Amino acid sequence: MQRLPQVLQSQLLQPALITLLATLADGCRDIARQISRGAVAGVLGNAGAENVQGEAQKKLDVIANDILKALLLAEPSVRALASEEETEIVAANPDGRFLVAFDPLDGSSNIDINGSVGTIFSIFEAPGATPVTEADFLRPGRQQIAAGYVLYGPSVMLALTAGQGVQFYTLDPVSNEFLLTSERVAIPAQTQEFAINMSNQRFWAEPMRRYIADLLLGKDGPRKKNFNMRWVAAMVSDVHRILCRGGIFSYPWDRREPDKPGKLRLMYEANPMALLIERAGGEAWTDAAKILDLQPEHIHQRVPVILGSAEEVLHCISYHTGR
Ligand code: AHG
Ligand code: MN
Ligand code: MN
Repeated sequence: MQRLPQVLQSQLLQPALITLLATLADGCRDIARQISRGAVAGVLGNAGAENVQGEAQKKLDVIANDILKALLLAEPSVRALASEEETEIVAANPDGRFLVAFDPLDGSSNIDINGSVGTIFSIFEAPGATPVTEADFLRPGRQQIAAGYVLYGPSVMLALTAGQGVQFYTLDPVSNEFLLTSERVAIPAQTQEFAINMSNQRFWAEPMRRYIADLLLGKDGPRKKNFNMRWVAAMVSDVHRILCRGGIFSYPWDRREPDKPGKLRLMYEANPMALLIERAGGEAWTDAAKILDLQPEHIHQRVPVILGSAEEVLHCISYHTGR
């Protein structure tokens, strides 16, 4: 099986990008080790602080952020970084060519129950001008030059899109290398599986309520087929399942906090996942537009997310657009 750097070289990526992706993989290997030591290393539980989103930080949110931040600041090709756990962007090296946005630990509510969690990252080419500002990050997701996640599950896996298509790598605990285990990930266009937090149903907008109600009617309803439901509560895990066998995932707009349109963050959750999903043949939308076409307004912006199997996502969008 081919090692990660070998595959990236064969895709003819620029050497600086290969080095950066290898650095991110190294950081995620360290995070995986911390997660697997769990209570033995005293890394579970709350850190005792809140992040910029007003969410209680877990110790592992902070540990994962510190690991990636230290590695990226030391990486000459990185101009600046943005993280879920950092209020402002952090400037790195003035000559750096890349901007990196990341969610250091996704699915934090799974940490203390030994559930699956992940790390998500998004890479842009840095603009020419210095000093770097938040505005430099605010570009449509279609301009990402690479995006991916690491899933800390029963196996540690990396999903990556950089040159061509989407690849899966599995961390081999014997050699400690990420090895290529799926060369061309492709999402089936149709599905009978959906992922959504049903407990929020009463807060959704009417089109999403109608769409899910029709799925729940199964064979007896307009869809004329039964649907199964899955919800891991870690986007990395839910998206991984969709990349493996199809499905539709949504964290939709809801009216619990009207000034926050959705829960997931555009720059380091929705955008990188949307690039992976589109490159694997799927669709990724808010309720009205393709996620990758959105013009971001700030680095911690939230958006509704509907992504997965192409035909199913477009069917769901038709409830929203009335077409
Ligand atoms: P994070 O842990 O980085 O804040 O992200 C958690 C997100 C996402 O991974 C998941 O899909 C969603 O929150 C789960 O939300 P609920 O707990 O509302 O189901
Ligand atoms: Mn997250
Ligand atoms: Mn997170």
